[in-house]
Amino acid sequence: MKEKLEQLKTEALLALKSVKDKMQLEELELKMLGRKSGQLTELLKGLKDVSEDARKQIGQIANEVKKEMEKALQSKKNELAQAEMAGLLEKEYIDVTQPVLPAKTFGHLHPNTIIQKDLEEFFTSMGFMVLDGPELESEYYNFTSLNIPADHPARDMQDTFYIKGHSDWVMRTHTSPVQVRSMQKYGAPLRAIIPGKCFRNEATDVRHEHTFYQLEGLVIDKDVNFSHMKGVLEAVFQHIFGPETKIRLRPKFYPFVEPGVNGEVTCFLCKGIGCRLCKQTGWLEVFGAGMIHPNVLAEGGIDASKYQGFAFGFGLTRLVMLKYGIEDIRLLESGSLKFLEQF
Ligand code: DAH
Repeated sequence: MKEKLEQLKTEALLALKSVKDKMQLEELELKMLGRKSGQLTELLKGLKDVSEDARKQIGQIANEVKKEMEKALQSKKNELAQAEMAGLLEKEYIDVTQPVLPAKTFGHLHPNTIIQKDLEEFFTSMGFMVLDGPELESEYYNFTSLNIPADHPARDMQDTFYIKGHSDWVMRTHTSPVQVRSMQKYGAPLRAIIPGKCFRNEATDVRHEHTFYQLEGLVIDKDVNFSHMKGVLEAVFQHIFGPETKIRLRPKFYPFVEPGVNGEVTCFLCKGIGCRLCKQTGWLEVFGAGMIHPNVLAEGGIDASKYQGFAFGFGLTRLVMLKYGIEDIRLLESGSLKFLEQF
């Protein structure tokens, strides 16, 4: 048996020399060392017929032979892997002398960014600053400073994500908290817009998403009134939807403005006649606005007996959807190139 073992080893090592690829290697491994019917296993079946002493001795030799064969197989495996890698590298060879082809891989702007940039430019041309604020906000700025006390039902409408271990922190539900932040920082007079990301605990569907963008605006000065507000908003929506666009204001309660309005624009698709987009009303609901509540001015450290102002807010995401006819809000944050490459 000893000789047979030695012979098996010699045969295996010889066969290994002519192995050219992974498949041949696997075949050889199976043939020699396969547990069920490999040659070594077959050979060792004969152990039961020899004396106990001899069995021990042969067992030891068999182990050594097996180890040696395994070692040789492994080094062949490494050798093949290296060769494969070298082959791949050769295939990936880059001809550095080739002239540069026009690059298709340059990025381009996300539809949200296109509209945001356009509006930033429009507002700065009217003397507005473009401001930013934290997305992780305190409950104070997100609600309390905006005249929404702790037990106010308005908090339910803007269910948000609270932060574990910090019950007074929230992911901001709107861009309005930056109203008070900017009053505290810059005082009056003030003209600013705040585009940015907002979050709500929504069950997502084609119209709802947990992450979306808003654009907030505010103007504070000595003689600012409701018609200034209407004029600014009309200019903004005519800029976006065309010069024939009209706006309509209807009373709506927002705790941080008084009076507060719900703003609609004439449907750009049917020009106000009534269609599927505007649900046959001729109007599209697009913004909230109003004269800033004296309590909010006070939180911002502004003397409400000297200054007054208006504020407005709209869903930037919603404008993008309307403008480009996007029917599913979830596409915007999906990262899908198929979708994004259309813009
Ligand atoms: N923050 C409001 C919302 O998310 C929108 C809004 C309404 C902003 C009226 C305003 C405003 O500044 O005056 O629903």
